[in-house]
Amino acid sequence: MRFFLDSANTEEISRAWDMGVIAGVTTNPSLVAREKEDFHTLIHKIAGIVDGPISAEVIALDYEGMLQEARRLSDIHPNIVVKIPMTLDGLKAVKTLREEDIQTNVTLVFSPVQALMAARAGAAYVSPFLGRLDDIGEIGMNVLADICEIFEVHDLDCGVIAASIRHPVHVLEAAKIGADFATIPFGVLSKLSEHPLTSAGINKFLDDWKKLS
Ligand code: E4P
Repeated sequence: MRFFLDSANTEEISRAWDMGVIAGVTTNPSLVAREKEDFHTLIHKIAGIVDGPISAEVIALDYEGMLQEARRLSDIHPNIVVKIPMTLDGLKAVKTLREEDIQTNVTLVFSPVQALMAARAGAAYVSPFLGRLDDIGEIGMNVLADICEIFEVHDLDCGVIAASIRHPVHVLEAAKIGADFATIPFGVLSKLSEHPLTSAGINKFLDDWKKLS
């Protein structure tokens, strides 16, 4: 499983990229709105930091509107992946964009059959939202496991991105299940590197070292 950073904050993105652990970035309208910067300018900046897929989402809900926004976003940089919501118009847009060689990431996926539909329409990625399913008492990880199984059984050429990750156990379970990617907020990414025994070990080594001098 590879990591994407789920953020539109260029400082976080630079820090994560410099750590060498992320393969790309995903954004969404809520994350972009926090940055209070022109959307296209921001995506252009992110593309200057990260050499990998960068998901940027359309706002339109109708087919023609989605296509127009997708083409503009795709013109920003070859690494842009256009995020399309999981709707009937969205699926139609995915098919057309695939024919134009524009990669898409179908977002707001909450069931295995939605993921199957997206893959069949020609999406390069699907994003099942684990945390939001957990929030309403459904088991997001079970949905992710079903999607991974279906994609393997049917040999589907579509990356599965475990999204709406809220804590390190989501990352652990998604990796065990075999998700291709997990898109992770910066706070959770930092926690993945931490362990109390690592900190205690560093402190002990430094204390012992001081005794030497
Ligand atoms: C995925 O691509 C989304 O940006 C994201 O993971 C949503 O996470 P949230 O449910 O924590 O907002």
